[in-house]
Amino acid sequence: MTLKVSQRAASVSPFIVMDVMRAAYEREVQGQNIVHLEVGQPSTSAPKGVIEAAKSALDRDRIGYVDALGIPALRERIARHYADIYGLSLPAERIVVTQGSSGAFLLSFLSSFEPGDRVALAAPGYPAYRNILSALGFEPVDLLADIEHKFQPTVELLRNAGRVEGLILASPSNPTGTTVSETEMRALAHYCGVHGIRLISDEIYHGILFGGATVTAAAYSDSGIVINSFSKYFSMTGWRLGWMVVPPDMLRAIECLAQNLFISAPALSQLAAIAAFDCKDELDGHVRRYRENRDLLLAGLPKTGLDRLTVPDGAFYLYADVSHLTNDSREFCRRMLVEAGVATTPGLDFDRQRGHGTLRISFAGATAEMAEAARRLAAWKR
Ligand SMILES: Cc1ncc(COP(=O)(O)O)c(C=O)c1O
Repeated sequence: MTLKVSQRAASVSPFIVMDVMRAAYEREVQGQNIVHLEVGQPSTSAPKGVIEAAKSALDRDRIGYVDALGIPALRERIARHYADIYGLSLPAERIVVTQGSSGAFLLSFLSSFEPGDRVALAAPGYPAYRNILSALGFEPVDLLADIEHKFQPTVELLRNAGRVEGLILASPSNPTGTTVSETEMRALAHYCGVHGIRLISDEIYHGILFGGATVTAAAYSDSGIVINSFSKYFSMTGWRLGWMVVPPDMLRAIECLAQNLFISAPALSQLAAIAAFDCKDELDGHVRRYRENRDLLLAGLPKTGLDRLTVPDGAFYLYADVSHLTNDSREFCRRMLVEAGVATTPGLDFDRQRGHGTLRISFAGATAEMAEAARRLAAWKR
């Protein structure tokens, strides 16, 4: 007898970029050369210092289960990072090490919301937020953010959303790379504080910034949760490691959830990640390349007809308005892949209402690939 898949699982939306990656891979298997502008991850490995630390940890450590909240030395090192980067003094006890920021979403959503709670988030935004919220029985509430406000939530949008229990903020954002200013962060944190809304700030793209200073919600909200990760600036996606800064009164509940859901985050990754904070020169070199890639595409893409681009402050994405070229971004991206050999992600992944007219271009790859993509798109007879 075949048993049915639960309604909850069956209704989870796909992460479309993963489908694009598969389609691009299938074309490569058939012999087509593809330039990958769909992939939202660094093209580099972990920094050398991390790899060395991992090798030495393998030689001396058993690599067993560790504390559910994280290895103390790593929690302390992360706390020091807040002092170094933001001038913020945080006790290491408030740091919780997680399985990437993805693990932190589970822990923060489960520890913050009751079934049926409404949680606001910007559209366009990272698709997993809404898909995880839905899978867990919470209701994502789209804040239709506009280019005038850099596609970021505003107090006004939040006020117009009706009663919500949470706000998810991402600065720099995926897919736009835009940031919220200190003034906006302060205003949003204040509004959330006054109205009993849990602010959850995804700061995974901190460190990849092309000017200005990144603002952490940890400096503005006592009740908020900050989420970060080793995946992007630290170039360690596959090590599956992230962290949260949590209010002290949530610690025990989060610890119990983490014990039961994960036992612990990967021990080898934790032991190695302590070294990541001392690899600034290598990692800042990647950021310089991202900036070069961004500038190259901002100069080159308008000549190909992709001339409505959001200028990113950070991360490694360009968000393109292609509504003058198509009303079906999925088909547009499919044709771009097949006919021009350039893989990008349809905007529908990030904005269900307006994403049929947008796409995301990732510039995390090599600079030569960006130049090749611009050349191919200029030659593409749409
Ligand atoms: C905004 C954002 N948050 C979280 C993640 C997930 O990252 P992690 O590897 O830390 O789970 C991503 C991955 O692309 C992302 O873009």
